[in-house]
Amino acid sequence: MIFEQITTGGCQSYLIGCADTCAAAVIDPEVSQIDRYLALAARDALRLRYIIDTHTHADHFSASRQLAQQLGVPVVMHRESPAPKVDIRVDDGELLVIGKLRMQVIHTPGHTRDSMCLATEDRLFSGDTLLIGGTGRTDLPTGNPESLYESLFERIVKLDPALKVYPAHDYKGRSHSTIATELDTNPRLQVKDRAAFVDMMRNLNLTMPTHLTEALRTNMSGGKTVAQMLAEAAATVPFMSLMELLAHVETGDNELLVLDVRERDAYQAGHIAGAKSLPRGQLELRVNQELPNPTRRILTCCELGQISTLAAATLRSMGFQRAVALDGGMKAWREAGYPMETSGAS
Ligand SMILES: [Fe+2]
Repeated sequence: MIFEQITTGGCQSYLIGCADTCAAAVIDPEVSQIDRYLALAARDALRLRYIIDTHTHADHFSASRQLAQQLGVPVVMHRESPAPKVDIRVDDGELLVIGKLRMQVIHTPGHTRDSMCLATEDRLFSGDTLLIGGTGRTDLPTGNPESLYESLFERIVKLDPALKVYPAHDYKGRSHSTIATELDTNPRLQVKDRAAFVDMMRNLNLTMPTHLTEALRTNMSGGKTVAQMLAEAAATVPFMSLMELLAHVETGDNELLVLDVRERDAYQAGHIAGAKSLPRGQLELRVNQELPNPTRRILTCCELGQISTLAAATLRSMGFQRAVALDGGMKAWREAGYPMETSGAS
């Protein structure tokens, strides 16, 4: 078996492959690690067959849809998953065949209704059902402490105690545990009384995960995160440094058009000498009047360097082949003490 554990903050994802056939699967991929999964698979000459999410994540951004699209590989989730773009919906007891590996689906609702664990050979990918020294929470959408109790005490604790446990999260840098260790030491598995367990889960008073709304929106719909939108735009435009722009400003370069895409009041409060004002929200509607020359070298700038990236990408897609974005924004420009103009119209 070929096996890689990929850690992103507290999130754990896995690449598992069959050494005999080069077939492989990724479990719970995280969006910032897409290149890493592809690189690891390439390094070991693996062909990805499945992209599997153990459940609908509320606290990080799944890369499943994106990986699946790039590779033409199906996304696998439990049949209870609310995500519309799942290619293979699986149910309890079913097997996924990865070369000579057999990966068994164990439906373990509780953390979410669509939670499942995956067992193969000597290990269990336990999702957020069983964590090292803990369990997934049950207070997020579709969570249910009664179901979690049943999943843990009627399913998980009856598995082979020697199975290694690889969870979807660990916040203390631990890689894995075993069923036996968890039976002995996991505080939540010591609460064997159903009512007491449910009571404990209902009174954890956990804070909501950051990005909850965005994670649920994108993971349930297959839509893009804001970071993805920015990364995709950034991949299509070159950037210019603050220093380079300063040199152009100081030499009075008339070839370069600085396009300030902030709102008009921000522009009037202070802008780069010679900059033209065209707020991002009006870009497409006013581009024909304001930017008649598509061969002009244009540099977009905004407050923080993000909206200007989107604006430069939009300009490029409209045919402005020399549009570039400022690497940084007016905030950094001001903080560097570079020259500003407050007067003058665009
Ligand atoms: Fe989760």
